[in-house]
Amino acid sequence: MKPIERHCDIQFLVCVNERPGSNPLPSCGAERGNAFFNFFRSAALSWGARHGLEVWVNRSLCQGFCDKEGVSVAAFPQQKRWNAVTQADVPEILRIIEENL
Ligand code: FES
Repeated sequence: MKPIERHCDIQFLVCVNERPGSNPLPSCGAERGNAFFNFFRSAALSWGARHGLEVWVNRSLCQGFCDKEGVSVAAFPQQKRWNAVTQADVPEILRIIEENL
């Protein structure tokens, strides 16, 4: 094991989990795919750069809050979570994180 000494100010986890077609549960990746991830990542990195923050945006598997209306997103260290997120929600998520810096 090697410790990693690199840190970020905010890490977002964006669910891209895809379940097999036979599974009746919704899955973020199947509903929105990587298109949402790429949109969110671009918006969050631009926002972070404007605020002088090191922002990481990473794909995750299921976060346990699946919703067919959108994607699950988590932010750390703020410990904020959202589900059913769409592209229209991204500015509000970034506004909430800004309030909690
Ligand atoms: S599949 Fe995304 S939270 Fe479950």
